[in-house]
Amino acid sequence: DAVGKGGYPFYMLKEINEQPAVMRKLVQHYFNGDQPQVDEKLLADLKNADHIYIVGAGTSYHAGLVGARLFEKMAKIPTTAHISSEFAYEHPLLSKKPFFIFLTQSGETADSREVLVHVNEQHWPSLTITNVDKSTLSREATYTMLLDAGPEIAVASTKGYTAQIAVEAILAKALGEYLNYDEAKNFDLKNQLGSIANGMQSIIDSKDDFQALASHYLSQPRNAFYIGRGIDWSVSLEAALKLKEISYVQAEGFASGELKHGTIALIEKGTPVIAIITQDRTAGLTRSNLEETQARGSNALTIVARHLAKEDDTVVIPDCDPLLTPLLSVIPAQLLAYYTSLGKGLDVDKPRNLAKSVTVQ
Ligand code: G6P
Repeated sequence: DAVGKGGYPFYMLKEINEQPAVMRKLVQHYFNGDQPQVDEKLLADLKNADHIYIVGAGTSYHAGLVGARLFEKMAKIPTTAHISSEFAYEHPLLSKKPFFIFLTQSGETADSREVLVHVNEQHWPSLTITNVDKSTLSREATYTMLLDAGPEIAVASTKGYTAQIAVEAILAKALGEYLNYDEAKNFDLKNQLGSIANGMQSIIDSKDDFQALASHYLSQPRNAFYIGRGIDWSVSLEAALKLKEISYVQAEGFASGELKHGTIALIEKGTPVIAIITQDRTAGLTRSNLEETQARGSNALTIVARHLAKEDDTVVIPDCDPLLTPLLSVIPAQLLAYYTSLGKGLDVDKPRNLAKSVTVQ
């Protein structure tokens, strides 16, 4: 067991540490020179689609929220992310030419498979993005793209999330180039993924800081909030999931503009509120939303992209393309969750009541 953990006390820390290497591996696998290499038949099927539906559960759904932005920006095809257990039974009205992308680290999630069974009955084209070759969802979808992340053992997904976003970005760029869009041609993804790998490493190298922050801000409170706007909100959802699933702090991610419409009533003296701030257009707005919580006694923390950082920001992360910031902003959240759980003496890798792969509906 200790060998499998490579000297780390828990798989989760090992897997957090592997993320820079996974980014580099994905570059090696999917790029030839500066061009992403993606199956042309897959690109042709995607080109033909009038709407891309991304389907996933848990962390994979959160990666889908980020991916939807990438496909809309790079390939200009309307894209929406959906929770598989909802999609399977709500049967939303679909566009005429849908294309389905299944995000699933394990390739075995029953709720996601339920949707795929229906998709196949309708003969719609589909892609599974998964970490497990020949898994059920990989075998049953029209196409597969692999995550190259190596086995993910800890129940709380870390490298699965960042690898999924990177593969979505690779596919979005390839599709946008195939469709001849300048946005995709100018998207310097290969270099970005290389410098993001270095940026991830620099955050991971300062992990002692996160242990101190976790012990100071998150070890006592029963609840905590992550806030952000747009893509930072998507990461807030994932950040909150990490914290709640392994440390049992009741954590939620909120669109920061929504706070004033209800959630701010929950803020008490000492409630941790962590703002994720990486986007130029919304940085000031999120900062003022955070100040509103401070005025009600919150303990405010910030995770901020370097070019937007101010002197008293808590965590400053390296800059990168605004569409790829989740790859960096999620790392502090993973580390905060890890050290909160560790500090409480919990089983980080095997939180109560949870399974790595949920094969029941
Ligand atoms: C479980 C795991 C989560 C995971 C979700 C979806 O709930 O605990 O970490 O995100 O399943 O799993 P999948 O393998 O489909 O990505």
